[in-house]
Amino acid sequence: MTGNILIRNMTFQYESMLEPIFKDVNVNIHENWRLGLVGRNGRGKTTFFKILRGLVDYEGEVETTLEFTYFPVYPDASSEEMALEVLQKQNPHRELWEIERELSYMNLPAEILYKPFRVLSGGEQTKLLLIELFLNENAFPLIDEPTNNLDLNGRRVVGQYLKNKKGYIVVSHDEAFLNHFVDHILAINKESIDLIKGDVETWKAEKELADERSEEQNAQLKNEIKRLNTVSNRVNTWGNKRESSTHDSTERRLAAKQMKRAKAIKKRTDEKVEEKKRLIRNTEEVEGLKMKVKEPRKRLLYLRHFSILQDGFPLFEDLNVEVFPNERLFIEGKNGVGKSTLLHFLTAQEGFETTGEWEVNLPENLSILDQKNQGAFDYVSYVQSLTAEEKEDFWHLLHQLGMKRARFSNLPTNHQWSAGEMKKIFLSQALLGENALFVWDEVTNSLDLHVIQQLVESILHYGPTMIAVDHNESFVEAVSTKKIELVKVE
Ligand SMILES: Nc1ncnc2c1ncn2[C@@H]1O[C@H](COP(=O)(O)OP(=O)(O)OP(=O)(O)O)[C@@H](O)[C@H]1O
Ligand SMILES: [Mg+2]
Repeated sequence: MTGNILIRNMTFQYESMLEPIFKDVNVNIHENWRLGLVGRNGRGKTTFFKILRGLVDYEGEVETTLEFTYFPVYPDASSEEMALEVLQKQNPHRELWEIERELSYMNLPAEILYKPFRVLSGGEQTKLLLIELFLNENAFPLIDEPTNNLDLNGRRVVGQYLKNKKGYIVVSHDEAFLNHFVDHILAINKESIDLIKGDVETWKAEKELADERSEEQNAQLKNEIKRLNTVSNRVNTWGNKRESSTHDSTERRLAAKQMKRAKAIKKRTDEKVEEKKRLIRNTEEVEGLKMKVKEPRKRLLYLRHFSILQDGFPLFEDLNVEVFPNERLFIEGKNGVGKSTLLHFLTAQEGFETTGEWEVNLPENLSILDQKNQGAFDYVSYVQSLTAEEKEDFWHLLHQLGMKRARFSNLPTNHQWSAGEMKKIFLSQALLGENALFVWDEVTNSLDLHVIQQLVESILHYGPTMIAVDHNESFVEAVSTKKIELVKVE
């Protein structure tokens, strides 16, 4: 057997779910592929990795001799391990020069090796954990959403790094990032799984064609389903009638035989009906997302030679910028330069030391989407805290974002949301009510391509005023009206 991954008739379902996440999946993944795994939030990408890693019980077979490693696996928060120690975990035999070479590919200075891993920035930690996986040349890395802590430049660097490696699977919702390196795409659709050669562009073009075709076919399919159902019913009643209409034993045997045949025909037609129904359901439907937007009355922000001080030193070089109603300012800059700090200053203002001139006019109705740790959120109590009207709006928003009510109105308190589902809950929270200014920090993290597109469309349609940070290139290009870059003071 080669080092491929052979998946045969694999079926998996979480106990608390109504339907299986995977049903009779058959795929063959080559050990040398740079495979991008895409699919809408909650479709089962992280679960697919759990299956390959043997963490959950499934039906069917997954045959492989590959050894899987996984991202993200962080050291304990309290661990004092140095970066070098973390890097040597997968493979303690790698020489220092090899490790340093990998660091240079990731644009990291060699000194970083001797710092505690714990103090490094999110982007630096991500890069190190990825290097760690590739230092073990026998392993096949399964990489789940590596971009969340990476700024634009970091995404390019990591994209280039992955392009020079082979034999791994990466889950990401950032198309531009994936297109740097993938040579195959495995897409988890609504009712099927596609495996294609090429990048996200190729897959999207093929999917679009297929969707168009199936939309045309849908009408035809519906007619056919109707016809097949009539056949199925007719065959059924006909078989039943024959059998009960006579007392002669030879006749009855004959009738029973015909009944059996009728049943087989019915079964086949019913299967065909199911298959056609599935084809209809496989096209993605994305609804419009409603944003209630109020126009602010005056200039929201004015900064002249402005910076925020930390321990008496400016975090970033002087800023000069203004934001007027209907503008959307995106703040760019490397990891750790102070983008989120600037957003916090805008919404709180107190407790910051600053230089230069500033004026902030916050409207009353503010939508804040923070980059906070979202793990501790208690969904059930949150929903209970809403008024009946808010609850309706909240559920409606979730519904528009593609989360079906049946799946979330009756959940155990400890339900394990997928990363994107969690983000959609926070986004719906931020979209509640009518807002005059949207201060959004990394809204696109964890969201799938369709939701990002949905957001772009509704932002362009409703024209909110926004001050935001985001690392998704195509999103920023589509919705920003203004950009500033924060530059670290050296
Ligand atoms: N332990 C669990 N028990 C029950 N349901 C679960 C469990 N873990 C995940 N789920 C559900 O299974 C579905 C698939 O989750 P999974 O995390 O695999 O999605 P995903 O494709 O990785 O999504 P995302 O893009 O948002 O990360 C989701 O609807 C999620 O709510
Ligand atoms: Mg996931």
